Amino acid sequence: MIYKKWTILVFLINCFLFVKCLDKKGIYKDNIDTSKSLVLDGKSDYLSSSIVIGFDTFNVIIDTTLNYLIVAERKCDGCTQYPPYYRESQVFENIQCDSPACHSIGNTCDKPNKYDPPTCGYETTLQQYGANIKTILYRDIISIDDFKNIPVIIAAIYEQSNGVSLNSAILGVGPSCPTCPPSPLQSLLYTLKKPYIFGISLDKNYFGGISIGKIDPLLYTGVINYTTMSKRDGVYSVSPIFVGSHWNDQLFNSTRNDIKRFIISSSSSLSYFPSTPYKQLKQFLKNAGCKSGDLDFCSKIDSLFNSCINASQISIDRFPDIDLYFEEGFILTIPPKIYFHSISRNNQVFICMGILESTDTNAILGINLMRELYTVFDNEKTLIGFSRK
Ligand SMILES: *[C@@H]1O[C@H](CO)[C@@H](O)[C@H](O)[C@H]1NC(C)=O
Ligand SMILES: *[C@@H]1O[C@H](CO)[C@@H](O)[C@H](O)[C@H]1NC(C)=O
Ligand SMILES: *[C@@H]1O[C@H](CO)[C@@H](O)[C@H](O)[C@H]1NC(C)=O
Repeated sequence: MIYKKWTILVFLINCFLFVKCLDKKGIYKDNIDTSKSLVLDGKSDYLSSSIVIGFDTFNVIIDTTLNYLIVAERKCDGCTQYPPYYRESQVFENIQCDSPACHSIGNTCDKPNKYDPPTCGYETTLQQYGANIKTILYRDIISIDDFKNIPVIIAAIYEQSNGVSLNSAILGVGPSCPTCPPSPLQSLLYTLKKPYIFGISLDKNYFGGISIGKIDPLLYTGVINYTTMSKRDGVYSVSPIFVGSHWNDQLFNSTRNDIKRFIISSSSSLSYFPSTPYKQLKQFLKNAGCKSGDLDFCSKIDSLFNSCINASQISIDRFPDIDLYFEEGFILTIPPKIYFHSISRNNQVFICMGILESTDTNAILGINLMRELYTVFDNEKTLIGFSRK
C-alpha cells in the first residue's frame, strides 16, 4: 500500500528549549519569569534542536536512548550525514583507553592512524537508521545558545555502514548510570550546577519544548504522576502492571508477561508493541469495532492496520482509549486521537495507526504517544512523570 510509506515521512516539529530554569544570573532571579526559547527549528519526525561546535551550527536530534553527542568526522568512510562535519577545537583531547570514561558498553580501543597512540572509541547500531557506526571519542567544548564552552564528550563518526542518511547530529539525553558516560545534557547541567532533570512537552501537532534542569510549572496542568524509571540497558523505560482497553463488551488486557517494559524513545516517531500484544490489540479492535454492526466501519478497521486511510471515511472518536495501569496507582490514558495520527498529502488528510508491531520484546513509547503530555525524566530521583499539557 502506497500510503504506508507516508507514516515515516516528515512531521513538522517545532522544538523550543525552555531555559527559564537556567537563568545564569542565579539565585536572586529564581522567581522572575524570564522564559526564553533557546532554540526553534525542526521539520523532522524527531525532536530537534541545535548546538554550536567551533564555528559550526549543527542540527541535533534529541535522543533519550543515547548518551553521546554523535557527529560525523570530516573524514568519514561511508558517512551519509550532511555537512557540517566535526572539526576538533583547539582544546580537544582524546580519551585514553584506560580512562574511566572508556568503560561503557560499546567502547572500543582504536588506533586511528599509525602515528597516534590508541584512543577510546564507541561502536553502536543506531536502530532508527539501521546504521552501524564507529566513532572516536573526544573531550571538547560546545555551545548551546548562551551557554558557551560546555565540556562534553563527542563521538565523532569515522565509519558508517548500512542504513539511511543521518540528516542531523544526535544529542543524547539518556540516563545517568555508573556504567554510562555522562550525556551531553548531563554535562551541561552539571556545569550549570543544575539537577539532571528534563521534561518534554508536546502538543497534538508535535509543537512543544524541552525544559532542562527543572520541572517547569508552565508546561503542565494538574498533577504529575510518577512511576519508577528503569535505566536498564542505558535507556529509560517504565513498566505498567498492565495495558488495558474496553470497548463494546470486549476486553484487551496485556500484562507484564507480554509487555515487560516501554522504552521511552524521543527518536522514534511512532510507537511499537511486541508481536503478541500487538496481534491481540488488533484482534480486539477488530472484534469490538465490528460488534457495532456497522459493516462499513468494520471494513475500515482492517484497512487501518495495513495503511493510512482517508480521514473523511472514518471517525476515530469511535475508538476506545488504551490505558496504562501503573503500580503507583495511576492510569495513563492514551486516547484514539493520540494513538492515531493524521498526515496531509495533496490537500487530503489521512489517518494512520501510530502503534506498530515490533520485532523486539520491548514496547516503544515514541513521540507520537508523548503528544499532549509533559513527560518528566527525573534522573535524580529515578522517576518518570506524566502530566497533561
Ligand atoms: C488485567 O489482568 C490483570 C492480571 O490478570 C488483572 O489484575 C487486571 O485486573 C486485568 N485488568 C482488566 C482491565 O481486566
Ligand atoms: C477522500 O474522501 C473524500 C470524501 O469521501 C473524497 O472526496 C476524496 O476523493 C477521497 N480521497 C482519496 C485520496 O481517496
Ligand atoms: C494522573 O493520575 C490520575 C489518577 O489516576 C488521572 O486521573 C490523571 O489523568 C493522571 N494524569 C496523567 C497525565 O496520566
